[in-house]
Amino acid sequence: MTTTPTRADKFSFGLWTVGYNGSDPFGGPTRPQLDVVEAVTRLAELGAYGLTFHDDDLFPFGSSDADRQKQIDRLKQALADTGLIIPMVTTNLFSAPVFKDGGFTSNDRGVRRFALRKALRQLDLGAELGAQTFVMWGGREGAEYDTAKDIRGALERYREGVNLFAQYVTDKGYDIRFAIEPKPNEPRGDILLPTVGHAMAFIETLERPELFGVNPEVGHEQMAGLNFTAGIAQALYQGKLFHIDLNGQRGIKYDQDLVFGHGDLQNAFSLVDLLENGGPNGGPAYDGPRHFDYKPSRTEDITGVWDSAAANMRTYLLLKERAAAFRADPEVQEALTASRVAQVNEPTLNAGESYDDLLADRSAYEDFDTDSYFGGKGFGFVRLNQLALEHLLGAR
Ligand code: GCO
Ligand code: MN
Ligand code: MN
Repeated sequence: MTTTPTRADKFSFGLWTVGYNGSDPFGGPTRPQLDVVEAVTRLAELGAYGLTFHDDDLFPFGSSDADRQKQIDRLKQALADTGLIIPMVTTNLFSAPVFKDGGFTSNDRGVRRFALRKALRQLDLGAELGAQTFVMWGGREGAEYDTAKDIRGALERYREGVNLFAQYVTDKGYDIRFAIEPKPNEPRGDILLPTVGHAMAFIETLERPELFGVNPEVGHEQMAGLNFTAGIAQALYQGKLFHIDLNGQRGIKYDQDLVFGHGDLQNAFSLVDLLENGGPNGGPAYDGPRHFDYKPSRTEDITGVWDSAAANMRTYLLLKERAAAFRADPEVQEALTASRVAQVNEPTLNAGESYDDLLADRSAYEDFDTDSYFGGKGFGFVRLNQLALEHLLGAR
């Protein structure tokens, strides 16, 4: 196994990630603007296969049609020169002042209609560039005050909007699916569809649920104190992992967008193990882009930007290597068996067994020895986790 990224690894980056200029709520930029051609060229050299972008990343909000087209043409030329592709696009419905109360769910109906038009325009561009996923992160779809937003009305407006998009791509024959990106808060005090679970439940209410999945981000679930790997496992279980945002987060605080693995490393290990080895017969469980949504720290100059872009991919590949070593270790296999990990896949009832049969089975209840679980019959999970940790540390 190699830790040098290739196109086959399907690593992609947002233009807004390497292009982040270091601004935060307390200070302005620390780096000059990065040109899209340089971004494409450098990412291709580093081994990425894809670039993703918001409309406003490529051409500033309010650009004339001619300026917009010029930037699109420059991007297309850079893609042709490097072989990089555009696997995903998304719309910026959060930066311009008009979106201060959201896009699809703003209390202002005129803003909502403008947001729909802006998103439809970006959908057209995505289709033109061959993107197969359209991410929707609704950072401003929310509120600070419970009195200020009718949540049921806002969800209904969100639903109205995304149903329209589903109809649009169907009528146009676009090969595009939608991925909703949850986040609990920031920039709004509370954001609609705050977790993977909320988003997946919402998707089931849509007219064309098969066109919608999730784009979970490591840091966003962890900001809510949730286990990212467990959320990804449920999204996979429900066939809804359409895209993924990889990065690093250290606990429940503001959205850090650190390099992948620079946060909860054990969870990053279990995530890569799940994605790469959690499928049928131990193969990959997910074959979409490995998309990095990180921010090169404010402290970095342009060298640090590219070092951190490379670090995301190298960390992913190192974890992939470590996860393979974990799986291949006979002692791990023995520990997995001792922990009865695979047994959870056995149906609890016998084939064709009814509740009458279960009620008649004395071994399941009357004769079942619950006492034997006191002072014995441990599961050995700590030993198993220590083996994982030792593989992660390179100690085995
Ligand atoms: C964030 C989000 C965004 C989205 C992006 C694509 O917290 O800022 O993660 O980076 O991923 O807007 O929709
Ligand atoms: Mn984020
Ligand atoms: Mn994201």
